Amino acid sequence: PASAVSAPGGDLSVAGVSLLELAERYGTPTYVLDEGEVRSRARAWVRALPEAEIVYAAKAFLCRAVVDWMEEEGLGLDVCSAGELELAATRGFPAERIVLHGNAKSPQDLGTALRLGVGRIVIDSGCEIARLAARVPAHDAQQVMVRVLPGIGAGAHPKIRTGAEGQKFGLSIANGDAEEAVARIQGQPQLELAGLHCHLGSQISSPEPYERAVRELVSFLVRVRDRFGVVLPELDLGGGFAAAYLPGDAAPAPAVYARRIRRALTGACAEADLPLPRLTVEPGRSIMAPAGIALYRVLAVKRSGGRVFVAVDGGMSDNPRPALYGARYTVRRVGRASAAPMRAATVVGRHCEAGDVLADGVELPEDVRPGDVLAVPASGAYQVSMASGYNMTGRPPVVAVADGRSRLLVRRETFDDQRRRDVGL
Ligand code: LLP
Repeated sequence: PASAVSAPGGDLSVAGVSLLELAERYGTPTYVLDEGEVRSRARAWVRALPEAEIVYAAKAFLCRAVVDWMEEEGLGLDVCSAGELELAATRGFPAERIVLHGNAKSPQDLGTALRLGVGRIVIDSGCEIARLAARVPAHDAQQVMVRVLPGIGAGAHPKIRTGAEGQKFGLSIANGDAEEAVARIQGQPQLELAGLHCHLGSQISSPEPYERAVRELVSFLVRVRDRFGVVLPELDLGGGFAAAYLPGDAAPAPAVYARRIRRALTGACAEADLPLPRLTVEPGRSIMAPAGIALYRVLAVKRSGGRVFVAVDGGMSDNPRPALYGARYTVRRVGRASAAPMRAATVVGRHCEAGDVLADGVELPEDVRPGDVLAVPASGAYQVSMASGYNMTGRPPVVAVADGRSRLLVRRETFDDQRRRDVGL
């Protein structure tokens, strides 16, 4: 069950733990993560594509417990910084199951990846080829993939559509950059080209763009075979699979994407007389978003311009998604049943700008008042991981729930944490 999306009414609980009790025990705002839900969503990907490598996109949310869960469920990790790599390393996550991404990898990112021995480094620009090769010890070879730009834009918002021409990621197939990169990698004995990567975008609610991407990538594999005489053994289609935020949202099951991707790949390879490459996908949001719930406490209620504003103790510093992408959420009151009718309200944060809106036009009971606890389902991805220090409110804690118990995974950021970094006199 999608715990976060379909939590029952009244005193809402998740994995047998009351949300009201969690709010009282850990304070607010707090992010609650349903461990069983994360694991079962990870497993659903593994089951849907048993022939493929499933690589969890750490940017959606990472902490040490999540590293363990992914390892135990048999997934790899997609990381994009030395920080994410170091965190995975603290749990001894098998480095060969890690893929390093980034359109601008720093010397520290590359150095850490090589020191830990990550399985794949994804080349995202021509400039990093020689730079990476120069760092690989003479007797070694680092496996790399080329991130190609297939010219297919998909995703719920322009800011998260990465596969189209005219944005910063990948090497264009259309302008010849991708082919040029393949040629240059072939000339580097320190690099071994394992295959191609692409990432179309995020919150993609149909399998269709993936089918087009498969056809583009396979036709590029053919071009590589014809020009260089090599058959690249791997294809990584990136992530981007949608999660449901609102009741009517389309969020196909992993099995649905898997079936369509498999069929497209088998068909395109048969037609091109190519062996089936080993497939990788990199889901982040679809595993994590539905498993998370944000808890807030109401601090103020007021009217203005015909709207009812319900202000809570968090906001854009823990969830920048509405402000950045116009993302929409549902909001539920927790732990206080009343006969009050519902009415439309705008749930806003505590930050000092008018754009700090968490959810507009949500139905809340008319008697919502300061002290009430509100829950925002589908909050597991790209919220805590994108939390900022704005207004020095302190980033929220993350609490895991499983089998009727809760445990703290990440503690609340305190004023002391903030002050310690401020070393000026
Ligand atoms: N692989 C690569 C190379 C990526 O860049 C991403 C996400 C993923 C996999 C995972 O995509 P997912 O399955 O989570 O959609 N902050 C935005 C989303 C940014 C996605 C960035 N890249 C949001 O909150 O909507």
